[in-house]
Amino acid sequence: MSKPLTETPVNSHSSLENQNDHLESSPIQELEQLPEQREIVTFMRRSSPLNTSQRTAIEQHQHMILQYPVGDLRQVFPHPERPLTVEIGFGMGRSLVHMAKANPKRNYVGIEVHIPGIAQCVYEAGLEGLENLRVLDADAIKVLKAMPDNSIDCVQLYFPDPWQKKRHFKRRFVTHERMALVEQKLALGGTFHAATDWEPYAEWMLDILDNRSRLRNLAGKGNSYPRPDWRPLTKFERRGIESGHKINDFIFEKIN
Ligand SMILES: C[S@@+](CC[C@H](N)C(=O)[O-])C[C@H]1O[C@@H](n2cnc3c(N)ncnc32)[C@H](O)[C@@H]1O
Repeated sequence: MSKPLTETPVNSHSSLENQNDHLESSPIQELEQLPEQREIVTFMRRSSPLNTSQRTAIEQHQHMILQYPVGDLRQVFPHPERPLTVEIGFGMGRSLVHMAKANPKRNYVGIEVHIPGIAQCVYEAGLEGLENLRVLDADAIKVLKAMPDNSIDCVQLYFPDPWQKKRHFKRRFVTHERMALVEQKLALGGTFHAATDWEPYAEWMLDILDNRSRLRNLAGKGNSYPRPDWRPLTKFERRGIESGHKINDFIFEKIN
């Protein structure tokens, strides 16, 4: 597993403004100014210590942790022919573990750059004895680029960092450029499922997704999808609800 950069934590959406203010003089911004680091990423690495069970889980469940670069994610499973769901930014992974447990005939790969999240996810997946879940510490964009076209059945993006300041909008995961990549990797009939508690990001997502010619809004143009009861509550969703935020789900099918 690659070593995380030291970074300050983003603990909640409400603290993001302060967090981004802090970026003015943060090491990551200095890094971004180096020629080889100009690439715009959608995340910030955060360093926080692993607890004992997370450290043990990483050792005990090495087979669940993929090493980047990995290539075709379908081939890492005992049943590579089964439909593949890729979750981008699963956080601490509890909802991903629930989904993998509820759908044993589907393969799941979670991609996250937060190491304690990777460790917590394999800890909980290990307790459940899941065979259909793997995780990966990497930038999801790079992982998607290495996948064969038309190979993923579902891409999930739950409560992505909203990047509230205008100068950071380019870091939002949902952009035309990144969605073109997602579309390329989705199988025909496959879905992109996003959820957010940040209303301006919900409007931004809808504006982009409803104008993609390869995608069809399963709730009808201009609408969000009723919250599916099969999508488990995530940590950031709970925080959003506690802050009084409205939750918006979007499910789009690849149609060509
Ligand atoms: C706001 S958190 C939400 C976590 C979780 N989905 C939830 O709802 O509780 C967004 C997560 O996405 C991760 N992330 C953002 N961009 C990513 C990328 N390109 N590749 C992998 N992880 C990413 C961040 O590290 C962060 O943990």
